[in-house]
Amino acid sequence: MGNQVLEVISKRRSVRKYKPEQVSEEKLSLILEAGRFAPSGGNNQTSHFIVIQNRETLQELKLLVEKEFAKMEIKKNTYKSIKNSILASKKGGYDFTYNAPTLIVVANQRGYGNAIADCSVALENMMLEATSLDIGSCWINQLHWLDDNESINEYMMKLGLANNETICGGLALGYSQISDMAPLARTGNTVTYIK
Ligand SMILES: Cc1cc2nc3c(=O)[nH]c(=O)nc-3n(C[C@H](O)[C@H](O)[C@H](O)COP(=O)(O)O)c2cc1C
Repeated sequence: MGNQVLEVISKRRSVRKYKPEQVSEEKLSLILEAGRFAPSGGNNQTSHFIVIQNRETLQELKLLVEKEFAKMEIKKNTYKSIKNSILASKKGGYDFTYNAPTLIVVANQRGYGNAIADCSVALENMMLEATSLDIGSCWINQLHWLDDNESINEYMMKLGLANNETICGGLALGYSQISDMAPLARTGNTVTYIK
């Protein structure tokens, strides 16, 4: 790779097997700083990072997510990842966080047109900083998919989600159980040049 940034970008992989060891406060604060330093539309800076490390809270949230997905019906046009979450929840034992010791929920203002975009750049910044610190990460979208679910919303409000906020995404963080994951080839993501 040509430079350090591309090196970190290509090293980042979605980690779905974590060691129980918690991410240190020092590393966590660097990761959050990377998220907070992300650009935002109109320099809005309205992304909200809810960091969950409490084991009981994570467990309650997992069970609630499983319960709510298990109630859902699979329709013809249900997105494949949501379908997988529904099927896994109906089967039981579904853990949308992959047992990561830290989950960061990223929210933004409801009705703000750049909510998802702002949170996405923050999420990528955090994943890259995590990679550079040898911390594994994985984008976690289940709480975004369940954003209009009353029980999830109520629970997240207890954790600090504001009344006017929407959940845009999430991030699992922890030490990876798998060392040296090779980069995944990109066969899509077309580039069109006009010269
Ligand atoms: C918008 C978005 C949502 C994603 N949601 C999830 C998710 O909910 N659970 C998960 O395990 N991975 C999720 N991923 C990770 C992708 O599956 C992963 O990035 C892709 O398979 C490529 O693998 P890599 O990240 O290891 O390069 C998501 C990624 C993005 C960008």
